[in-house]
Amino acid sequence: MSAVERLYSERISRGTLRPDPAQQTVLPEFERIRAALAQPVKRGLFSRKTPEAPKGLYLWGGVGRGKSMLMDLFVASLGDIPARRVHFHAFMQEIHAGLHQARKAGVEDALAPVAAEVVKQVRLLAFDEMQITDITDAMLVGRLFEALFAGGVAVVTTSNRHPDDLYKNGLNRQLFLPFIQLIKARMAVVELSSPTDHRQGRLQGMQVYFTPIGSDSRKAVDAVWRDLAGGPAEPLTLVVNKRDVVIPAFRNGVARASFYDLCGKPLGPADYLAIAEAVRVLVLDDIPRLSRQNFNEAKRFVTLVDALYEARVRLIASAAAVPDMLYVEGEGTFEFARTASRLMEMQAEDWGSA
Ligand SMILES: Nc1ncnc2c1ncn2[C@@H]1O[C@H](COP(=O)(O)OP(=O)(O)OP(=O)(O)O)[C@@H](O)[C@H]1O
Ligand SMILES: [Mg+2]
Repeated sequence: MSAVERLYSERISRGTLRPDPAQQTVLPEFERIRAALAQPVKRGLFSRKTPEAPKGLYLWGGVGRGKSMLMDLFVASLGDIPARRVHFHAFMQEIHAGLHQARKAGVEDALAPVAAEVVKQVRLLAFDEMQITDITDAMLVGRLFEALFAGGVAVVTTSNRHPDDLYKNGLNRQLFLPFIQLIKARMAVVELSSPTDHRQGRLQGMQVYFTPIGSDSRKAVDAVWRDLAGGPAEPLTLVVNKRDVVIPAFRNGVARASFYDLCGKPLGPADYLAIAEAVRVLVLDDIPRLSRQNFNEAKRFVTLVDALYEARVRLIASAAAVPDMLYVEGEGTFEFARTASRLMEMQAEDWGSA
């Protein structure tokens, strides 16, 4: 049995995973890559030769099918092969920061040193949630991947879209097409076609709204968060209208923030839309009672809930009161009734399933 198969079946016997034949059929793809990376790098006469990058894996499919979970198992199976698992968006932000530095230092081809730095550190990059939405990334990513492959770095990604549908309808898309060809040439494109949305399955029958705020609800929310995130979280920075909007903790499509983080700061509709688009589940801590005194926070909260609702994001929350009692006096109580009703609806077991 391969290393990743062993990890998978350990989870099944522990009961943390349920057997899913579609997931099992993907495991050999990961093993193929692990085995190739485990080969010793041949040494040249005078220097270490650049190793050949094994064909990577582009794993795509619907939400909650277990792509990120499988990628995590794969990375865990790699032992001491230098690898890095990173959210694609976060990685691209690092690259942009690196390019900025290199240009400031007067480097003409700024990408070369930035890519070389990555190549020096890893043999494998595992990108979670590859998606291309803006033109700068679309124009950059092809050259970046070329440099990674040339440096012997294998790439594994998860995505909700087939490569042909990446950056769909994007500006100047024809310039992006060679990148799609590159993916197809250097990565096995595999669909994880499980009929089961396991995220929905996990949330089924689970309490998702905890009140009042206190150590009991804190513990309960922590447990849900641990279960869904499934590993160490990192901040996720979204750039909205050239400003940074930071979600303090994010992993596997699950974000965690406090009410204050998202509604206590001057964020607006565009920010909430971007957040709703970037996450599948939001764990929101400490929604206080709202009133005249915190009218602005209440208004932002209404906008946030509307954005989450439209994008069918699951919400796990701890709050000072049940939705109906969160905002009972002050301007806008009438409008808040809709928010309360949505908050109730979003607690339903099957809410958010496609
Ligand atoms: N076979 C399984 N049994 C039980 N739980 C599972 C199984 N596979 C995945 N899960 C859990 O379901 C949730 C969703 O899985 P995961 O995040 O890997 O989905 P995904 O395909 O990456 O979804 P998305 O496209 O939204 O990123 C996670 O909490 C994960 O641990
Ligand atoms: Mg995922």
